[in-house]
Amino acid sequence: MATAAIPQAAPAVLPRHVAIIMDGNGRWAAARRLPRAMGHRAGVEAVRSVTRAARAMGIEALTLYAFSSENWRRPAEEIGGLMKLLKLFIRNDLAELVREDVRLRVLGDYRRFPEDVVALIDDALARTVDNRGPILAIALNYGAQAELVAAAQSLAARAAAGALDPMAIDAEAIDAELETHDLPPLDLLIRTSGEQRLSNFLLWQAAYAELLFVDTLWPDFDAEALAAAVEAFGRRQRRYGGL
Ligand code: IPE
Ligand code: IPE
Ligand code: MG
Repeated sequence: MATAAIPQAAPAVLPRHVAIIMDGNGRWAAARRLPRAMGHRAGVEAVRSVTRAARAMGIEALTLYAFSSENWRRPAEEIGGLMKLLKLFIRNDLAELVREDVRLRVLGDYRRFPEDVVALIDDALARTVDNRGPILAIALNYGAQAELVAAAQSLAARAAAGALDPMAIDAEAIDAELETHDLPPLDLLIRTSGEQRLSNFLLWQAAYAELLFVDTLWPDFDAEALAAAVEAFGRRQRRYGGL
């Protein structure tokens, strides 16, 4: 049978860049009468399976919101637990990321983290800097408003120094100042746990992203859930203001 006679399935629309607000670890734990830390631990397992699934699907960039600039408001004990998990994740998973040619990125001011965590992150970034494969961006102490403030300051400083015409500042100029400047445009933004807000995540980048809010708590989000999200994205009609 000539394969040419077989009707081709419509090519699946794959988002190039998917970002996830990984929410609901605490509620996942509470539902099991477990301490919140256990929810975060289960959340790391979800990170592992979802990053693998994203790679397998051929998604170019995956951005994960792991710690917001507002998460410092949590009890020190919980923040300490999250730092421990971050270290564990880097120690356990870096070899796989290197092997899989993953380009690791960090969005946010991670230098405010404890010294040993910063050192581990710097080492992980250095060891993946020459990779050419999919991007895994982790938002750590990230806040979109701070990101935009920094962009405004940088552009204003150049303008004040006479190196930039203020009227030449356009959307591309702002894009170039953002921490996501070398990532593909954001296509799909997912938030788990039923909350429907952005919590200071990728405010500029989300301008024309498709938003998907799912009730699944982050530790229960897996490869199948990602596939369902990507499928839902494929059914969306993006119009960008046109018809
Ligand atoms: C998301 O889960 C993980 C982080 C913010 C680090 P939460 O810890 O916010 O879980 P809920 O929202 O309390 O259930
Ligand atoms: C957003 O979740 C931040 C991360 C997932 C890292 P939060 O749980 O901190 O957000 P709010 O407080 O419900 O808005
Ligand atoms: Mg939450």
